[in-house]
Amino acid sequence: MSDYSYQDCLEASYRVNWRIEEVLGPRKFDPAKRWMPSALSAAPAIGCLSEAEKIKLSHVEMGAYAHLFGYVEEFIAPLITGRAKAHGEGEAFEALANFVGEEVKHMHLFRRLRRRVDGQLGFSLKLLDGEQEVTRYVLAKNPGAVLLLTACIEWFTQLHYLTAIREDSDLDVLTKNVFRAHWLEESQHAKMDHLETLRAFSAMETTERDRAVGDLIELVGAVDGLLQKQSAYDVENLAAYLGRNFSRAEAEEIYREELKVKRWTFIASGVSHPNFVALFTQVTTPPQRERVQFALAS
Ligand SMILES: [Fe+2]
Ligand SMILES: [Fe+2]
Repeated sequence: MSDYSYQDCLEASYRVNWRIEEVLGPRKFDPAKRWMPSALSAAPAIGCLSEAEKIKLSHVEMGAYAHLFGYVEEFIAPLITGRAKAHGEGEAFEALANFVGEEVKHMHLFRRLRRRVDGQLGFSLKLLDGEQEVTRYVLAKNPGAVLLLTACIEWFTQLHYLTAIREDSDLDVLTKNVFRAHWLEESQHAKMDHLETLRAFSAMETTERDRAVGDLIELVGAVDGLLQKQSAYDVENLAAYLGRNFSRAEAEEIYREELKVKRWTFIASGVSHPNFVALFTQVTTPPQRERVQFALAS
């Protein structure tokens, strides 16, 4: 059992709280540097790009990475609003309401960061749209499934910063600043997702838990569909940025590696996070976990 508490989360959140201006300020990305860490970039695996082009690929990837966080926060904010309301009052309500406020701030942070990327690249990146439609689709699923997906996302923000961003010594400084700030606040979100997921599952009968597992599989499938779409956009964005026409084989190689790294970044790094695994194990039975593993493998 975790020893997380809403009160500790709220206190920690007040200690680390930051303003968008402090994180972004007038700072710009350094065009000579990588904007995405190697561990979350397709660049190291691609053979058809020069070293200079790989650096530019990381700029395009940063636009998509920042956008995808803002994209999922669109459904996390109303989800947690509903959870806060259900508590009515007290510590849990206060901690969750504060969580929502932080998520809205992050949405603004990532919008501004995307504008900064576009401004420095000199054109608007092609990025996923349909946030409202996706939010409606996600929130119509079983709440246990949506909370598990949210916990998976918030745990991978921790892993990305600690293992990929902080440790990359040659990474752009603005990237480091932004994702350090995001990591600081997301740490409390992940713990509250854990508490809320346990709460949601404790109120469910076996059949409803089965439904939650089925919905989680559908949600992960939908995330994968979005990643496929954005990976194709990344190929187009890179071609526009480089002013280069890729051959079919080159475009296929970039797409394949981009999708592979995005699947690691936005799905596998979350579902394999030890804290997510501990939570998932606590709320599911071995046959339910097998269903999910089978779906992930295919
Ligand atoms: Fe966030
Ligand atoms: Fe969050």
